[in-house]
Amino acid sequence: MTIGPIDKPSIMASPTRDIQLTKDGGIKHFLTIEGLKKERLIEILDTAESFVGVHSQSTKKVPLLRGKTVANLFFENSTRTRTTFELAAKRLSADVLNINLNVSAASKGETLLDTLRNLQAMQCDMFVVRHSASGAAHFIASHVEPHVSIINAGDGQHSHPTQAMLDMFAIRRNKGEFATLKVVIVGDILHSRVARSQIHALNILGAGEVVVVGPKTLLPDNLRELGVTLEHNFDKALKDADVIIGLRLQKERMRTALLSTEDEYFRSYGLTEKRLKLAKPDAIVMHPGPTNRGVEIEASVADGPQSIILEQVTGGIPTRMAIMSIAMGNVEKALMASRTGSQKTNDNAKPATDPTASQE
Ligand code: CP
Repeated sequence: MTIGPIDKPSIMASPTRDIQLTKDGGIKHFLTIEGLKKERLIEILDTAESFVGVHSQSTKKVPLLRGKTVANLFFENSTRTRTTFELAAKRLSADVLNINLNVSAASKGETLLDTLRNLQAMQCDMFVVRHSASGAAHFIASHVEPHVSIINAGDGQHSHPTQAMLDMFAIRRNKGEFATLKVVIVGDILHSRVARSQIHALNILGAGEVVVVGPKTLLPDNLRELGVTLEHNFDKALKDADVIIGLRLQKERMRTALLSTEDEYFRSYGLTEKRLKLAKPDAIVMHPGPTNRGVEIEASVADGPQSIILEQVTGGIPTRMAIMSIAMGNVEKALMASRTGSQKTNDNAKPATDPTASQE
């Protein structure tokens, strides 16, 4: 399905900075981390923390989205993101629609906007969108009615902001403050919407040092503009690392030969037990998934004591609950403010028709 926006790896350009915020600066759509204030990210992390206990309650629900309908629109495959969004929405007491886009009208040539307008006509309040085109979530957000909130669940090579926030949540829970941390991100940075969102989040939260590592073909030079250190030698980068984040090789996005062989990649950039010893002894190992064992990470490291990969997945639920409840809350506040505003306009107009005014 074509929707218009250009699908190019874009490190710097993000058209979404303003549209996602209310006039007061609150998040109403969650499209990108770029341009958000630190307090907005802290609000998400603190709210997520407050939801951690919900899963151990006898009734795993809070009523914050009761009466709201959340539609999951995944135009690309997903396991973790789609299911944790569904669980998060259900734990917020929302009604949830999982639209199977392979058998929906979208597969019959219906445009993205037509699909969306039909769902909007069914009074959906929130769309969680994953799409292969960079800018898709922004495009949708710029066309929905004011009562609807859009959450970006990954758009092309641009942004995966909820993944970055759940990663920040996992880092903060394990390491506390960001300021002293050396974070190493290794792998296919070129195609990674996750890496871009993580870098923005780490910068905003004030991480001590962010080092991105990979072969020259997968490490765009303009990343330096984001204030990160570029490194091609993984062993060197690992020295004193507190957090190591592996990324998946996105072969489906590699249109030309950017890699020699997977074996060679593993030799240079695979996170092995031996390599992990080069980092700090209490370093944590992260990966957004899906992981390719024996290519990006040794199985014993993925399953080892320093790995928090499954903890990341678990934390995805309270983090996504936080993002959805904050966004819906801000949409409602903005709607209320606009209603009050129009009431004021009517009130202002009243004197002209006010009988007491005409008596003067
Ligand atoms: N991390 C992530 O986005 O995984 P899925 O593709 O399974 O959603």
